[in-house]
Amino acid sequence: MATALAPAKVILFGEHAVVYGEPALAAAIDLEARVSVRPAGVTTVNGNPLSSQHHVHLVHALQVTEAPHFDITTASGIPSAAGLGSSAALTTATVAAVLQHLGRFDPERTARLAYEAEWRAQGGRGSPTDTSTVSAGGGVLVDRPPGEGEPLWTIERGERTWALRRVTLPPMTLVVGHTQERGRTADEVAKVARFAKRQGTFAREVFAEIGGVARDGMRALTANDLPAAGKLMERNHRLLTILGVSTPKLDRLCAAAMRHAHGAKLTGSGGGGSMIALPTDVEKCADAIRRAGGVPYTVHLGARGVRVFAGEVPA
Ligand code: PMV
Repeated sequence: MATALAPAKVILFGEHAVVYGEPALAAAIDLEARVSVRPAGVTTVNGNPLSSQHHVHLVHALQVTEAPHFDITTASGIPSAAGLGSSAALTTATVAAVLQHLGRFDPERTARLAYEAEWRAQGGRGSPTDTSTVSAGGGVLVDRPPGEGEPLWTIERGERTWALRRVTLPPMTLVVGHTQERGRTADEVAKVARFAKRQGTFAREVFAEIGGVARDGMRALTANDLPAAGKLMERNHRLLTILGVSTPKLDRLCAAAMRHAHGAKLTGSGGGGSMIALPTDVEKCADAIRRAGGVPYTVHLGARGVRVFAGEVPA
């Protein structure tokens, strides 16, 4: 038997444009998913038969690890379809637990296989941002090689190469505002793909601008210049709006949070899901989000990457 714990993540800057080779900055946060695997005659998930309809991410995670049959137990403190990487955490924890069981766990192998599984689950689209951040923990910059920061690993897919690098971010509290609207990553990524096809050069210019904002944002955050980081978050949000992935509710939560924040933006794929704010006053910012109809979560950056254990781990 083996268990893995994997954190949620937020994308601080650069979502969507990262799929097209621009840099993005993501960070693990202190919400967690847990997966345990126990050898069995036939695979079950929380006592139910494994289903390609209900357990899409698990099916792919088991396939890429060539897993034998298991009784799988999952538990997650990460709201799903909220743009916080709940599926990446579940996928990564499953891959890690299987690898641990097989005596083959290491974070880089986990990140590669979890990306492969996510990529398949998302219909052949997406970047390794979520799965690598969940695997590595802390702050992760996804960039073209060579890039800034300490190298973690490089992931290739077709013509694209993403260099994953560790970035040391100061301890930071964010307020996440969940819209309670479902944002499906695969749909939003497909929407941006259509935008890219339709708009050609203009789309590439928007992606490049998001990339520039991500790079400046990383520098502002590592220098602990929160006012500058906040302004860049707002710019990033406006650029994501141009891509068509924001919603009226995300815009409303960002505007409400801004009264008590350096900046705010949607995080992750959008189309619902969540926004993040860099608060000047955590309580007031959370309250403003709640009044605007969102569900606030106070989260801290700097969570550890995926961890594995032999056997069960007490809750
Ligand atoms: O929906 P999330 O939080 O998993 O974010 C996906 C991030 C995207 O840039 C939109 C897609 C990707 O694969 O990088």
